[in-house]
Amino acid sequence: MSPQKIAVIPGDGIGGEVTTSARAVLDAVAAKHEIELGYTEFDWSCERYVEVGSMMPDDGLETLSQFDAILLGAVGWPGVADHVSLWGLLIPIRRAFRQYVNLRPIRLFPGVTGPLRSDADLDFVVVRENVEGEYSEIGGRMNRGLPEELAVQESVFTRAGVSRIADYAFELARTRRNYVTSATKSNGIVHTLPFWDEVVAERAANYPQVQWDSEHIDALAAKFVLQPQRFDVVVGSNLFGDILSDLAAAVAGSIGIAPSANLDPTKQHPSMFEPVHGSAPDIAGRGIANPVGAVWSAALMLSHLGHGAAADDVVSAMEATLAEPGTRTADLGGTASTQQVTAALVAALN
Ligand code: NAI
Ligand code: MG
Repeated sequence: MSPQKIAVIPGDGIGGEVTTSARAVLDAVAAKHEIELGYTEFDWSCERYVEVGSMMPDDGLETLSQFDAILLGAVGWPGVADHVSLWGLLIPIRRAFRQYVNLRPIRLFPGVTGPLRSDADLDFVVVRENVEGEYSEIGGRMNRGLPEELAVQESVFTRAGVSRIADYAFELARTRRNYVTSATKSNGIVHTLPFWDEVVAERAANYPQVQWDSEHIDALAAKFVLQPQRFDVVVGSNLFGDILSDLAAAVAGSIGIAPSANLDPTKQHPSMFEPVHGSAPDIAGRGIANPVGAVWSAALMLSHLGHGAAADDVVSAMEATLAEPGTRTADLGGTASTQQVTAALVAALN
């Protein structure tokens, strides 16, 4: 069998540091499980934008379409507006490759102290709709600079889009604890979110074994803090899912650990795996970034590529490394460098 092809986009700031670490862990686990992965690295970034005026080449998406998966560090750098870097790289990839699921698992690992008083067992997944909803290009601005200036941005919710994300959430719950929570705000947002609720209820009827409920986003945010252990699979629109998943990552101890997968579940297009955190300009270049978010993202990639046992092995190595005070980075209260954590992860695998 020829190697599975991985496109690596380190991006900006600590993106390069954490993808180097993820690559080292992938090399170790691939050798152990006799998996063949071939890598091609791309320098698409804000640095490139400053030099040549675009985040990626014109045929960038065509190039990526030849790969089995994409591993991304982070993009964004002071001096380039964040909407330029996001809409110049990440969002086109998510949309062109129909990565309609953004999957963000949340766990509180032994040895990691969360900010909450009770460190109950947290183990849930946020399923965020990733290609429509509130993040839409429909709208515009008028009368710029005048007192009557205005901005309009339309949310887009489609039956196809809501159905498939709901189905993904219910299917996922069946492999876990059979419980789905749908994020809504149908009391205040009177067209799109009642529609969301209706379609989710329709899909839920196909999964009688899965218990589900619907919560308004404001109350849900409070429950993420007060009773995070009650959740199993939480499904939300693009904006709600985005906010909830960062909140969940914070509740689980550090944004430095949180992974994400942008999935095309049909596997017609490559899926993309990236830590939730950004390029962290405040710590970039100092060798202290937590690589676990990128490493966990690489584990999600292995699982998507059909290497479940190798993915489980990487997660076990993460558990062992996080449990040890000497191999935690500064964001977790430790003093270990990125390289020391990487070495510990590789050692745990070998
Ligand atoms: P950020 O996630 O880069 O940093 C927030 C805070 O968390 C900083 O104090 C940082 O030092 C810390 N942090 C983040 N990752 C860490 C890690 N692995 N280990 C230890 N500490 C870590 O978010 P911020 O500051 O809002 O954004 C910085 C840049 O990154 C911006 O240009 C933003 O647009 C971009 N960004 C890109 C994302 C992506 O590529 N998916 C996601 C979020 C932000
Ligand atoms: Mg976010």
